Amino acid sequence: MKQRILSGIRATGRLHFGNFLGAVRNFVKYQTPGNVCLYFVADLHTLTTLESPDELRNNLVEMVKDYIAAGLDPERSIIYAQSSVPEIPELSLYLSMMQPLGDLQRIPTFKEMVKKHPNNVNLGLVTYPVLMAADILGPRATLVPVGEDQVPNVELARHLAGRFNNKFGETFVIPEMMEQMIRVPGLDGNKMGKSEADNAVDINASSDQIRDRYRRGVTDTLKVRMNDPGEPERCQSVFPVHRLVTGEDERSEIEVGCRAGTLSCVACKDKLARNIAELLLPFQEKRADLASKDDYIRDVLNDGGKRARVVIKETVGLVRERMGIVIY
Ligand code: TRP
Repeated sequence: MKQRILSGIRATGRLHFGNFLGAVRNFVKYQTPGNVCLYFVADLHTLTTLESPDELRNNLVEMVKDYIAAGLDPERSIIYAQSSVPEIPELSLYLSMMQPLGDLQRIPTFKEMVKKHPNNVNLGLVTYPVLMAADILGPRATLVPVGEDQVPNVELARHLAGRFNNKFGETFVIPEMMEQMIRVPGLDGNKMGKSEADNAVDINASSDQIRDRYRRGVTDTLKVRMNDPGEPERCQSVFPVHRLVTGEDERSEIEVGCRAGTLSCVACKDKLARNIAELLLPFQEKRADLASKDDYIRDVLNDGGKRARVVIKETVGLVRERMGIVIY
C-alpha cells in the first residue's frame, strides 16, 4: 500500500548514534517510490524548553545536515522545519478546541516535565501533544514511526482525529502508529539520550574516540575478571548493540567466547567500536562535505517547507470550513 510516512525530531542537539541507528536508518528505508515521506524538525516544540535562541537556530541547520548525511534525500522526502508551515500552529489551535484538558495532564511526558521543572510548567508543555497532532494530521500521514516514549502522544492524535471526524464529518486520516523504532542502549545501559545522562556516542566520533567511549560501557556485571565466563543476555550496553551492527558469524563467535570466558569485555567492546566506526564512515564523509553548505540546507528547508505547506494548507482549509471559520 502507498503510505504517507511522517516523523519529527526536536531541535535540541545533534543526532547521536542511538538516533542514527534506531530512528533515522528506519526513515531512510521508507523512501521508496510508492511512498510519500515527510521528515521535519520540530522547532516549535523545542520552544517548550528553550534555553538559547542561537542554539536553536544552529541546531536546526546542523540536524538537517545530519539527516541528509544519514541518507534522507531531499529528492525523495519532504524535509522541512515545522515553523515554515504557519498552518500547523493554526491547526493546533482548532484541534485544541476538541481536546479535553484532563487527558493532556495525564500524558506521561507532561507529568515528567512537571516533576522535573515544577516552577516552569508553561502552557506549551500542556498543549505539546495537540501541536504534535497538528503535525501528523495536517499532512494526512498514514504511518508515524516513533520511539516508545512518543506512543501516548500519537495515540492522542488518533483519538483527537476520531473525535473531530465524529463531530464534523470525515476530515482527518487516522494514522497507524509504527512503534518499531529500535531501542539503542547507551553506555550505562539506559536508552541512549542526547540531553540526559552522558551515555551517548557522537556520530562524528573517530574510531579511536568510539573505542575510548565504549571502554566505559556497562557489560555483564557478573563478569568481573577478564577470563570469567559471561552471559551476553545480561550485557547492558555492548552485546545489544552488536545485535544491531555486527554480522551474524562474528556475533556467534562473540557469544561463544563470552560464555567460555575466552573473550574479555575489552576485546568485545573494541570489536563493537570497530564495527560502529565502519558503519559510520560513509555518514561521516557525507557529513563533512555538508559542513560548510549552509546555503544548500536553507534551500532544502525552503523547498521542503513549500511542499509540506501545499498539503497541509489543503487540510487546514477543510478544517476551517468544517468549523465555520471564513477568512475574509
Ligand atoms: N515529540 C517528538 C519527540 O520529542 C517530536 C515530534 C514532534 C514528532 N511532532 C511529531 C514525532 C510528530 C512524530 C510525529 O521526539
